[in-house]
Amino acid sequence: MLVHIPEVLSQDEVQHCRAVMARADWVDGRITAGHQSAQVKRNLQLPEHTPEARELSELVLRALSRHPLFMSAVLPKTIFPPLFNRYDADGEMNFGAHVDNAVRTIPGTAIRVRTDVSSTLFLSSPDEYDGGELVVEDTYGSHAVKLPAGDMVVYPGTSLHHVTKVTRGSRIASFFWTQSMIGDVTRRAMMFDLDMSIIRLNGDHPEHPSVVSLTSLYHNLLRQWAEV
Ligand code: NI
Repeated sequence: MLVHIPEVLSQDEVQHCRAVMARADWVDGRITAGHQSAQVKRNLQLPEHTPEARELSELVLRALSRHPLFMSAVLPKTIFPPLFNRYDADGEMNFGAHVDNAVRTIPGTAIRVRTDVSSTLFLSSPDEYDGGELVVEDTYGSHAVKLPAGDMVVYPGTSLHHVTKVTRGSRIASFFWTQSMIGDVTRRAMMFDLDMSIIRLNGDHPEHPSVVSLTSLYHNLLRQWAEV
């Protein structure tokens, strides 16, 4: 289940992120890669302990917490602090096929995050670069994703994915992982469908008694399945 989450950041927030990143030092992206992915990863990252990375990471976390579509699609339990990467045409940067590490420890803590959901938040506008598509494989085939700056895609952490070579300009993005209250991808997708259906029904027929019964069903299913 790929979900496009529009307008996670406002254009002002995107510009702020870009300005902070323009004066930051970037390092080889292999610092956070596992053994297999290090062999296919060619990009740059902001070192996560720097003041710039921390400020921007918190900005993204605040934006996520106020976004109802992210909350509904992901049902977050623990969010790994967002990281930032860059792929330059100068350097022919790309990231070959890989699956993200299953479990990550939040630096400086003992908190472990099972990476149920992967997220990419685009910070460059599509007309600033060529290539750089995020390609995600699922049971229905492969999906190439390139979104407006400020928009995000979420997809199951189990998916094989890659980023195609950037052939013009630079592609800047934030990426992170979330442990969901519902680890099972099928259950999580059904909860999202149910929530979206309730919202549609409530919009079309706000007085309909099924709004209450389906909302109860949603919460009772969540109570059955949630790890909190
Ligand atoms: Ni990845």
